[in-house]
Amino acid sequence: MNVETRPTRSAVESTAALPETFTGARALEVEEALIFEIGRPDATGVDIEEPAPAASRLGPHAREQALDLPGLTEPEALRHYVRLSRKNYAIDLGIYPLGSCTMKHNPRLNEKMARLPGFADVHPLQPESTAQGALMVMEALSDALLKMTGMSAVAMSPKAGAHGELCGMMAVKAAIEARGEALQRKVVLAPDSAHGTNPATAALLGFSVRAVPAGADGVLSVAAVRSALAPDVAAIMLTNPNTCGLFERDIVGVAEAVHEAGAYFYCDGANFNAIVGKTKPGDLGVDAMHINLHKTFSTPHGGGGPGAGPVVFSDRLAPFAPVPFIARNGERLRLVEHAEGTQSFGRMTAFHGQMGMFVRALAFILSHGADGLRQASEDAVLSANYVRACLKDVMSAPFGERACMHEVLFDDRWLKDTGVTTLDFAKAMIDEGFHPMTVYFPLVVHGAMLIEPTESESKAGLDLFVMTLRDLVFAVQAGKKERFLSAPSHAPRRRLDETRAARQPVLRWTRPRAP
Ligand SMILES: Cc1ncc(COP(=O)(O)O)c(C=O)c1O
Repeated sequence: MNVETRPTRSAVESTAALPETFTGARALEVEEALIFEIGRPDATGVDIEEPAPAASRLGPHAREQALDLPGLTEPEALRHYVRLSRKNYAIDLGIYPLGSCTMKHNPRLNEKMARLPGFADVHPLQPESTAQGALMVMEALSDALLKMTGMSAVAMSPKAGAHGELCGMMAVKAAIEARGEALQRKVVLAPDSAHGTNPATAALLGFSVRAVPAGADGVLSVAAVRSALAPDVAAIMLTNPNTCGLFERDIVGVAEAVHEAGAYFYCDGANFNAIVGKTKPGDLGVDAMHINLHKTFSTPHGGGGPGAGPVVFSDRLAPFAPVPFIARNGERLRLVEHAEGTQSFGRMTAFHGQMGMFVRALAFILSHGADGLRQASEDAVLSANYVRACLKDVMSAPFGERACMHEVLFDDRWLKDTGVTTLDFAKAMIDEGFHPMTVYFPLVVHGAMLIEPTESESKAGLDLFVMTLRDLVFAVQAGKKERFLSAPSHAPRRRLDETRAARQPVLRWTRPRAP
């Protein structure tokens, strides 16, 4: 190793009790500097011939100094990124119980299908006649989503859940404008436990948001919704199962009340994983709902890949759905790209959506079959309830004994007067080799800890997880505060100032000045 480029330990908060090593590494835990710190302008992984001398036409715009790019040889570049990847947590390493994120196993079959050259190399601008296979995938996936949801139309182009919300609410807005009520209906209702993207979507479209409080049982009552409804309401945005992991028991009554008031029902379908094959949003009175393919149908997400958020529409909103949509002419498929002469609100994206995600999601659906999809939902709910049952005697649940859906929610009453917070508890989980659960969300529950194990985990895996959490709980009860306040002690980085990182992100590396 070049001593000049040797990573320094100074950037790492060392663990005092551990002996220093020359390299700063701790066995397989190799400390890795930034690429700018280890790169050299004269190093390269490729050998390019010197260009033949030619008169420059750049004039005064010609660069006077070499670009200060970090050069590495091919093995150095490879090692750099492999070393960084080993500092990361991933669903391929262990349970990833991040509530509201549905971090489930991504079957390798899906990956294999998505890498078939006809799908991986398809280009959005190639002639339709040469992309019939890709269009068949989109058609088959659209049909499957419509069957599962019991809805009438689908827009495939939205690229994430939040983008899907925007798409669904743009259709709501177009429908309201078509009724000549755009000036009157300026309010969107959202429960106080809503995911932040719901009110953000409504606000982005110029609506104001009226919060509807959930009851003591964590769900919305028809009465609460009725009292918030008024002639100025355009829609309700409601997540089901909701962000507390509970099925909205009165959802049909809520839909009826919303429709009676002349408003639309947008359902946030991010938690569809709990109900696939069990109930259809179309039967519940939903007018539009996005489906996070990356969650329910297992395409890698959360740093592992892009999302996709197709939106399904009821008869009431179908005419306003965006283009493009797929139309079949006998054997031929085509994408209807232009909205002229229809009530469609237009386009959401330049092209047609996330092809790789479509292939993966369809592979997941076809390989599971209808019975397998239903069982996946049942297993996801069973896993969450198993975790609930194993922890409910030592942690506090905000909504009592009620069975949960795909995720289980605890609050921090059980931590009262211990000097340990939800955050400390989550950090201690890192030392145990687990990714923490979602913390402090939903906001309506104090010190929330939201655990979503998904259907991917074996009983043995869940047992290790709950036994570890119980051990941590017993350590809290025994007053072993240090284990929590100093956590994580064994991670490559200790606690970061997350607020500062979010408020003052330093996204650019600047070379330190020579002393
Ligand atoms: C309830 C809920 N709604 C909306 C979203 C937004 O989805 P996305 O992250 O794909 O934009 C999420 C994401 O976690 C969610 O949990």
